Order: sequence, then C-alpha cells, then structure tokens
Amino acid sequence: MGVPALIVAAGSGQRLGAGGPKALVELGGRPLYAWSVDAFRRADHIDRIYVTVPPGLADRFTEAGIVTVDGGETRSHSVANGLAAIADADDDPGMIVVHDAARPLVSPALIDAAVIGLDSDPELHALIAGSPMTDTVKRLGGDGVVIETLDRSELVSVQTPQVFRTEILRRAMDAGDLAAATDDASLVELAGGSVGVIESPSGNIKVTVPGDLDLAALLLERDR
Ligand code: CTP
Ligand code: MG
Repeated sequence: MGVPALIVAAGSGQRLGAGGPKALVELGGRPLYAWSVDAFRRADHIDRIYVTVPPGLADRFTEAGIVTVDGGETRSHSVANGLAAIADADDDPGMIVVHDAARPLVSPALIDAAVIGLDSDPELHALIAGSPMTDTVKRLGGDGVVIETLDRSELVSVQTPQVFRTEILRRAMDAGDLAAATDDASLVELAGGSVGVIESPSGNIKVTVPGDLDLAALLLERDR
C-alpha cells in the first residue's frame, strides 16, 4: 500500500526570524524541509511526495522526486491547495499523510505506523501523532487568573504526521473555517469525524523559534 504525502512548507517563518522562508533555513547542511522529504522517501508506505512552497519560490525547492504546489495564505489554505493538486493528478488511493516541514526529525517508522494504523481501523477517519502532556496545564479566565487545572491524563499534545481518509478531509476543509483552523484534524473533528492518536517519540519537535533550530541540530548530531 502506498499513499501520497503532503509536506506543508509554504510558511514565511516569522517567529524564526531568519529573513526568509523557514523551510529553506539550513539545518545540518541541508534545507530544513529536506529532512522531512528524506524521512517520507524512506517510509515504506509513501508513494509520492507533494510539497507546498511559498508562491514564486518553487525553483528553490530542488530535492529530487517531489511535486511542488504553491501554498496559500494560511497553513490550512496550503493543505487545501495540496489536496487540489493531488485530485488533479488523479492520485488518491483514499488516504493521505499531512506533515509540517517544520518537524524535520519525523521518523519513517512513525509515518508507516500511522498509515498502517489508520488503514487497519475502519472506525477511524484520521490518525494523528501525539504525545502525553508532561507539563501541568491550567485554564485561564479573561483576567489571566486560573479557573482550573486540567486533568493531564485526558490531554495530549498533537503534532504531525496526521493521516486522513482523503474524502472526509476534503469534505471537512470544504465546510470548515480554514483561516481559523490550527490543524487539519480539528476540521475533521468539527465535521463529525473520529480522530485517533498514535504516540510519537519525544524527538519529533517543531522548529518555531531560533532555540528550536539549535535543539534540532543537537538531536540530529546525537542520532547520526
Ligand atoms: N505553512 C504553509 N503555508 C502557510 C503557513 C504555514 O505551508 N501559509 C506550513 C509551514 O511552512 C510549516 C507548517 O505549515 O511547515 C507549520 O507552520 P508554522 O510552524 O507556523 O510555520 P510558519 O508559518 O512558516 O512560521 P510563523 O508562523 O512563525 O511565520
Ligand atoms: Mg505559521
């Protein structure tokens, strides 16, 4: 079984502040997005790799074998553009994996486990990477004062990769508020879909601010 991957890499990287798109920032001698492309190439259950890129910069995404697609205004708009490209290419086996280029340390094993996990559970519409919370989480009121401490055993912090049944993702995105969505799975939840969580290793960090890039470089060096 092989499914398409959609790596979203069209963001501008404001918080990283590198003066250019985050996906092209150097990490361990390669552009950040190339690490994700490499992990998806090495996964057994991925066929083709689509990458959303900042409009006008496709020629700077030179990794072999990828299909570039212009991204949109928000992350969700980029995902929608990628889905449209996959439909245009008649390349939909029924499932799709969405991943943030900002998570360069994703492992092929996690990608494959998520694809197999969704494929083997007909009750689920999506299966997303997540980790148990290690911090205690509190809910605040508008005045900044704590209202309550949440039950940590009920919480997960979620990440990518996220694997979807393509049809429900497409429907959820058509009906949803793309500008407001923080991830694609939340649109599927709002559309009534059932979303499972697969535990992801703690190393699957997201590069958001400069310190994250330093941490990613250290983890890469450790695992080399
Ligand atoms: N992304 C995208 N299209 C957008 C915005 C984001 O494809 N219009 C991608 C980013 O490239 C990134 C992922 O979505 O891989 C997660 O977004 P985020 O970490 O917020 O990246 P940026 O939007 O680039 O960073 P910032 O919010 O700091 O500007
Ligand atoms: Mg962003």
